[in-house]
Amino acid sequence: MNLSSILKSPLWVLEIAGSAKSPKKNPLLGNEWLNRNGLHRSRVSIAAAMAERRRRALGKSIPADARAHFDEKGFFLTENFLEAGQFEALKAEVYGKPFQAREMRQGQTVTRMTPLPPSVLGQNPALAACFRDPRAIAQIRYASSRGGQPLGFLQTVIAEPKRGKKDPQTDLHADTFHATSKAWLFLHDVGEEDGPFCFVPGSHRLTPERLEWEYQCSLTASRDPRSHHASGSFRIRQKELESLGLPPARRMAVKANTLIVADTFGFHGRTPSDKPTTRVEMHWHMRRNPFLPWTGLDVKSLPGIKERELAFFMKVADTMEKRFGQRHIWRDVGAVDVDGPAQI
Ligand SMILES: [Fe+2]
Repeated sequence: MNLSSILKSPLWVLEIAGSAKSPKKNPLLGNEWLNRNGLHRSRVSIAAAMAERRRRALGKSIPADARAHFDEKGFFLTENFLEAGQFEALKAEVYGKPFQAREMRQGQTVTRMTPLPPSVLGQNPALAACFRDPRAIAQIRYASSRGGQPLGFLQTVIAEPKRGKKDPQTDLHADTFHATSKAWLFLHDVGEEDGPFCFVPGSHRLTPERLEWEYQCSLTASRDPRSHHASGSFRIRQKELESLGLPPARRMAVKANTLIVADTFGFHGRTPSDKPTTRVEMHWHMRRNPFLPWTGLDVKSLPGIKERELAFFMKVADTMEKRFGQRHIWRDVGAVDVDGPAQI
């Protein structure tokens, strides 16, 4: 054990009680002996039981039919989410003018993130109303099984099939070992051939078969050549999916103004696109410590922090790059149109 490992070891122990997921970065989470003796299995089981308990409290703000659909399938799907005039106002604010943005490339796919700090929301009331829509937020909280402030931004997904390697997000995967949510309000139609989001219905449930699969993954994940798998975002192959008794992934081809909110403990991915496509969406994330019994007490909802999380994170990452040379994956591309071509 070197000095760095000795200094980091208390942190590794603390991380077991939180949302840390990477067997590669945290040698305790990746330790085969600990996992044979139930470390990963226990984390997954306890997190699922806690999520179920918290959802009982959060479910009161969701209509019963939508909640029943989510509980069975693992996602909400709401067509015509915004009233037509509000949706047109949103598009009028989003398109035709540049916004400060960041981009990240994963193989053939570039993801553009347009942050929405209070200064941008203040100038774009329809965008602000959409970002803060209480119905969307209630679904996001229920899917992640936690209360609090989701992280939101405009997202553009640009597929360039003739450039770069395979996009790792096209492999079916779970984002982490516990309930967590992602949400998309699509600003235009997304067809079957446009590389839509896909999701395996019912795969958010922790069945005995899923728990066994999680256990098997935990024994070898730290040395798996698939880097996202080794980082705790476990990839699943088609055959394994069948052995878990799960149906094939459903391609979410949707009309403009559809909101999808998914628990991305469920297996999901981006469908590979054979043609160049650009998809623009309002996007939210929400992930918290899965072991806390309460749904509130959210630091990210405090005045001064609320809606500034992304700006703060970017500042820290930029500083780390400048001072310590740790390259930041989200490259600053200046002000660009949300549907403009990729800059990186
Ligand atoms: Fe994912």
